[in-house]
Amino acid sequence: MPGLFDPLKLRGVALRNRIGVSPMCQYSSVDGFVNNWHLVHLGSRAVGGAGLVVTEGTAVVPDGRITPSDLGLWNDAHIAGHRELVRFIAAQGAVPALQLAHAGRKASRVPPWESDPGQTQGRPLTISEGGWQPLGASSIAFDQGYTIPHELSVSGIADIVESFALAAQRAAEAGYEWIEVHGAHGYLLHSFNSPISNKRIDAYGGSLEGRCKITRAVARAIRKVWPDNRVLAFRLSFTDWVDGGWNTDDTVQLARWLKEDGVDLIDVSSGGGVPRPRIPVGPGYQVPGAAAVRQGASIPVAAVGLIDKAEQAEFIVREGSADVVMLAREMLRDPYWPLRAAVELQRCEAARMPVPYNSAWGHLGDFSFDPITAPRITDSGIDRVDGSRRNTLV
Ligand SMILES: Cc1cc2nc3c(=O)[nH]c(=O)nc-3n(C[C@H](O)[C@H](O)[C@H](O)COP(=O)(O)O)c2cc1C
Repeated sequence: MPGLFDPLKLRGVALRNRIGVSPMCQYSSVDGFVNNWHLVHLGSRAVGGAGLVVTEGTAVVPDGRITPSDLGLWNDAHIAGHRELVRFIAAQGAVPALQLAHAGRKASRVPPWESDPGQTQGRPLTISEGGWQPLGASSIAFDQGYTIPHELSVSGIADIVESFALAAQRAAEAGYEWIEVHGAHGYLLHSFNSPISNKRIDAYGGSLEGRCKITRAVARAIRKVWPDNRVLAFRLSFTDWVDGGWNTDDTVQLARWLKEDGVDLIDVSSGGGVPRPRIPVGPGYQVPGAAAVRQGASIPVAAVGLIDKAEQAEFIVREGSADVVMLAREMLRDPYWPLRAAVELQRCEAARMPVPYNSAWGHLGDFSFDPITAPRITDSGIDRVDGSRRNTLV
């Protein structure tokens, strides 16, 4: 089995290692535009050596934002900022990835830090404060303090599917190589998939097949417009952690279907669909879900959740539980986690640091001072990183 620092190739995309920066909302955008914060935040994690750098959940329509400060790609005017971000990330040797999202019934909130201290979710944003009416699978609020969503009509569902495809087209223009669709954490697609939040009696509800119809439609619509040599991934919650909710078997079946629809990898997370579930939180607690999907659907997976030690990440990949590991909070604490992990695992030859940082990293281990990892050659023949770190991706 390969290890954490062995490359991974999916379609025409080559990851230099199997470490991903997990998507993390920054709530720092104005009108959905990329700004310097996103460039520095994501750029520094690409400099830090991750193989894959995923943006935060990026809204496909304005109503699909969690807060007014979410990143977006619903307008052609957004493309230029994303292109700049992509160029910088790719120039550091990382694969630039975009998470596409619709918040569904969890939309129209204020950023968490604007709520009462201790809240992890922001309070609802009223219409008079610039909020909007959230949409959902059924007219059921997520929890007390959440607005009751409007149940989406069939034509409204078609519009949302189209919005995902249009955003994917813009993502292709911006130069992203990897799209991850957010189908987890109780947001729109997950709220359709789960029997807890989907009580519809039309073709988009009822059976597992009916509930998953919109998620599959999004996958197929994106695959139609998304270049064949680029990766399409989905993030799924593998369980709602409640009896009668979405579960591992459902996730495996959906992963099989998504594979048929042209999806290349499932990023396996959990929860978010119901308030206050009992979750056995601990190191790597979602890894068994990733392993179950990988085995049950024969599809590459990413594992995420309390993975923060080099040996732990290496073990997850080596034992075949996951093809990629994603780190979120640990990457906030240490953007250079991948470089440190390379030292710890004695895989310095596989790590690449920015040339101007050589003097700082040289004493830490046996880093090769050759700043250039082998250029990543894709099916489209793009040579992104050369000696002068000129980027020719877009
Ligand atoms: C600040 C913050 C923002 C997050 N935003 C997103 C997001 O936009 N999309 C998503 O799928 N998950 C999001 N997550 C979840 C993380 O991607 C990750 O799955 C979770 O934090 C568990 O990984 P960790 O234990 O390494 O932090 C967020 C997590 C944090 C801490």
